[in-house]
Amino acid sequence: MANGITTAIVLRWLERYAGILAEKKDHLTALDSAIGDADHGANMHRGFQAVLAKAPALEDKHLGEVFKVTAMTLISTVGGASGPLYGTFFLQAGAGLAGRPALSPQEFAASLERGVAGVIQRGKAALGDKTMVDVLEPAIAALRKAADAGELTPSSLAEVAAHAEECAKATIPLLARKGRASYLGERSRGHQDPGATSAAYLFTALAETFSLQTPKL
Ligand SMILES: Nc1ncnc2c1ncn2[C@@H]1O[C@H](COP(=O)(O)OP(=O)(O)OP(=O)(O)O)[C@@H](O)[C@H]1O
Ligand SMILES: [Mg+2]
Repeated sequence: MANGITTAIVLRWLERYAGILAEKKDHLTALDSAIGDADHGANMHRGFQAVLAKAPALEDKHLGEVFKVTAMTLISTVGGASGPLYGTFFLQAGAGLAGRPALSPQEFAASLERGVAGVIQRGKAALGDKTMVDVLEPAIAALRKAADAGELTPSSLAEVAAHAEECAKATIPLLARKGRASYLGERSRGHQDPGATSAAYLFTALAETFSLQTPKL
């Protein structure tokens, strides 16, 4: 494969995500203080700073290893509900990728589809339950469409990221049915879900990674 989603690209993606979380941690915590326990920003920031610290040692590793180390690092450092869920996302994304230095756009979409299926299996959230699934599922479906059209470009990924952001905003009127926010019942309406918001940043980070890489992959 001349160009595809390589270890270097995935590491740049994770590094960019860590950067966005560092910028947005207070915002995520403010969202979580409205309908949770005000720790989502700190949780995600801590986890991805730990991933960032491991990135240099992963430069020459295959994608199975990159995703697995990311998952294990998140599971051991993030805590709360989101640690095991994001950990599961990356663990499942990396399943079957041992020895693979690069993926085609379609293989990358399939990897993220496995990731979200893992999150759903573990957390039992359905679409509309006001969780990270409300962003992960539709954003990955949009990415799949872009990949099936033949290539992932900065502009197709910018559209995926914009869609993810809209989906995060669309959690505002929803009633939370999973996690700590569900304890609030009707009072959970009117607030954007923190996990859906951090999930949308994954796609912002991906779009930014591609716009900084080659113009076309
Ligand atoms: N069952 C679930 N499935 C999918 N996502 C979930 C589930 N439960 C919670 N979440 C997501 O996790 C986010 C909260 O993450 P956070 O890091 O704040 O953990 P937490 O709920 O505070 O954990 P804990 O209650 O253990 O302290 C929510 O905004 C939601 O998107
Ligand atoms: Mg919380």
